[in-house]
Parts: sequence; structure tokens; C-alpha cells
Amino acid sequence: MNNEKDSKVIFDNLLFEIHALENHSRKLEFDSSERNKIADESKEYINKYLEVLPGLKAFTKNDLTELKAIKVEDNGKPFEQLLSILQNEVDQAGINSASGRHLGYIPGGGIWSSAIADFLAAAANRYAGISYSSPGAVIIENQLIKWLCSIIGYPASAHGNLTSGGSTANLTAIQVARDSFGINAGNVRRSTIYFTAQAHHSIQKAFHTTGLHEAIQRIIPMNSNFQMDVSALNEKITQDKNEGLNPFLVIASAGTTDIGAIDQLDLIADICSRYNLWFHVDAAYGGFFMLVDELKEKFKGIERSDSVVMDPHKSLFLPYGSGTVLIRDRNKLLASYSHNAAYMQDSLDSDELNPADCGIELSKHFRGLRLWLPLHLHGLDVFRANLQEKILLAQYFYRSIKEMGFETGPTPELSVVLFRLPAEEKNQLNKNLLNALLEDGRCFFSSTLINNEFWIRCAILSFRTHLAEIDLALQMIKENVVKINK
Ligand SMILES: Cc1ncc(COP(=O)(O)O)c(C=O)c1O
Repeated sequence: MNNEKDSKVIFDNLLFEIHALENHSRKLEFDSSERNKIADESKEYINKYLEVLPGLKAFTKNDLTELKAIKVEDNGKPFEQLLSILQNEVDQAGINSASGRHLGYIPGGGIWSSAIADFLAAAANRYAGISYSSPGAVIIENQLIKWLCSIIGYPASAHGNLTSGGSTANLTAIQVARDSFGINAGNVRRSTIYFTAQAHHSIQKAFHTTGLHEAIQRIIPMNSNFQMDVSALNEKITQDKNEGLNPFLVIASAGTTDIGAIDQLDLIADICSRYNLWFHVDAAYGGFFMLVDELKEKFKGIERSDSVVMDPHKSLFLPYGSGTVLIRDRNKLLASYSHNAAYMQDSLDSDELNPADCGIELSKHFRGLRLWLPLHLHGLDVFRANLQEKILLAQYFYRSIKEMGFETGPTPELSVVLFRLPAEEKNQLNKNLLNALLEDGRCFFSSTLINNEFWIRCAILSFRTHLAEIDLALQMIKENVVKINK
């Protein structure tokens, strides 16, 4: 009897606590008036920001005192306070990567329609990892992958994965290459990989993560256009084969970060098929220029590769967080990433490939929507026009800066131009110029070292960069040359 009474008391207490916690927990769901207020304030903030953006500096140094002082506390803070920190200490410090005057590194995009897609995807929170969970989300992602494969010219057997960016995409491709060739602890030290010094450093990170840093890395020399020297590649592979080594992977670039060089993909494909090697192309920056008919020829041979990386957050102007890896033979992708677990047994079979079987992520952001919505909303033409415009702007900048007496790198293959002041003490002088440009901040430039020589880079890829921004950049360079010579 007593036991029954105790049990009832325990049960009542339990219910009392659950009700009390529920009252509190429910506060995580804003009601519609709170949602409207925050959404309106956010919308107004972004609208104002986009209105003033063309006049904002592209690079700003700022003390982030309020941001550094803020602490996570038991009670919430007013939205206005948080938005104000975002406005003053996040969106106005460092490189303004939303600005059309961002001309450094590889500029990102940030089209508004994609931001809205992120909002919709996150608020509805569809689980895009497996078809059983969200068949619609998975169809969207798989349709996009098919479309991306069609840009490359891959066969129907190809598939891929929408990743967080180019680094994770390169990592995925390199892992699939490693697995397909059975590279393991027993043979890695006599296995060889070929690439140039222009390969992006995410490739080195991928080697490290996949254990391929223990393989033999052959840095192939380049020709005067910073393309892989194909004869040198052929020679090195032959030599390695003759020495009993195990060549298995060639990594080419279709748009290098430094200067936008595109390797001779068709010739490299010949070599890879002759020796039966995995042919990977890093087209993270350059890939979407293939949408422009006139530029397609430059990428000839990419359709013969085994894997490709291309980043919608670069040459499709999406906000950061969007890369793509495409693998010619989907079975190889699945062999690396498809795994089962008892707790996944309820996932019904589906005709669709599950994104979770095609990459490292299980739970993942429904990032397909941030690409799907803009593509359908705007149509492809406007993306093409933007890409073509950036190519022409790069040619315009290249000619203009030359006319201003600057030394330049190679004629731009895509939309990156290298330039520097000619002088005896070139490196120091150009470092001084870059510092003056950063101090000025109206446009943002970055620099690089080519054969240990300092070059300033003008990378044109923001969808907000038009002729006015490039004219301002040229004017600003002129003014700062005068300044450093005073
Ligand atoms: C050619 C190339 N590959 C890979 C990457 C890495 O991409 P992410 O920064 O998206 O990881 C970059 C970044 O600029 C790049 O230019």
C-alpha cells in the first residue's frame, strides 16, 4: 500500500516538474508577434546595410570591445543590443566580403536570394541527409548535382556531394581517389602524387587528413603561364614507374587562386589515361566560368577527369558555405562513404541516393536550397552575364594598370590580375603600396609571392563589382602611389 502511495507521489512530483519546465522551455518558440518584430528589424537592418554598402570601405580596422566583453548568461538579452553589436563590430570590421570593392583573395558572393533560402531551410529545418527523412530536400540536392555534372560533361554514372566549401570538397575527392586505388599503410610510402606549386593549400590539408602526407609528393614544374608542364609530368611518372613506385593521383587546377591559371586539362587527361591514374581537377574558383560558352574551350579535358571541385560560394556568388565535389563514378564515392548502422535501419529504401552516403556529413544543413532557389528565381542568364562581366573587367583592369606604368603578371586567364610597381627594391616598395592601400581601405587587395617575389593581386569575382568599382580601384592605386612616393 505504502509503495503504491510513494509511487503516486513520485509520479505527481514528476508531472509537476515537467509542467514547470514546459512553461519555461516553450519560451524558445517565439510567438508570431515576437517573430515579426525580430524579422522586421533584421530585414530593415539588411535593407539599410545594402543601401549604404556601395559607399562603405572594403577594409576596416576596428576595436571590438563590446563584442569581446559579451558573455553568455542565464537570461537573454534584447535583440536590438545583439543586432547593434553585429552591425558595429562584426559587419564593419576586417574585410567587407559583401562589398563589390572586395578585390582580394577569391572574393565571395552573398546574393540575397540565397540568404532567404538559408532562412527558409533553417526555420523549417528539413533533414537533408537521407531521402526517407526529406525526399523533397534530397531530390533538390540530387537534381543540383546532376546539373553540376552536366556543366562538367560527366556521364550519368557520376554523382557528388554539396559540401561546406572547396577544402572539404577537395578532401572528399582525395579520399575517394585514395580508396579507389587501395592506398593504405602498406603501400603509401611508395605511392606518388603529382601537382604544381600553384595547387591550393587545402590539398595539403587533405593529404594530412587522409594519411597521404606519407605518400611521395612530386611538385611538377610549370610553364611561363603557370600551367603544369605536361612533359615534365609525363617524364616524372615514367621515371617513378621505372623505379617501382606506385603513381596514382594527378591534381590539376582549373583556375589557380594566385593567378587564375588553368592547366592543360586535355593533355593531363591523356597522361592519366595512359598510366591509369586518378585525375582530380580543383576548379573551386574557375569551375562556373564554364557556363560561359566562349570560355568552355579553356576547360577542355575536364570532362575526362575522375573528380572535380567547384565552389558556388565563389563563381556562383553564393554566401560562404557552399562547395561541390563531383565524382565520375558514383560507385567509388559510395564505396568511400556509404555505411550502415542499426539505428538507421528504419530509413526506407529510395530511388534517390542519400547525401549522407556521399560525404562525411550525416546531419547536414539543407544547403541545396541556397543554390536551388537563386538558380530558379533568377534564371541562369544573369549568372552568365556576371561571369562574363568579371572576365572583361579583369581585362580592363589589366590594360589600365599596365598603362599606368605597372608591371603585370600574365594576361588574365580568368578574373585575377597580378601587378606591382617596377623598381630596384620591388618587394619592399610594393609591400609599402599594399599597406597604403589597406590603410586607405576603399577597395581591398591582397598579395602573393610568385617565385619569392611580392605581387599585389586584384581578384574580380564579387557580383557587386562593376566598372565603377574598378575605376575607383585604379584611382585609389594612383593616389596611393603618390602618397608612398612623398
Ligand atoms: C583553387 C581553390 N581551391 C580550393 C579552395 C578552398 O576553398 P574553400 O575556401 O571554400 O574551402 C580555394 C579557396 O580560395 C581555391 O581558390
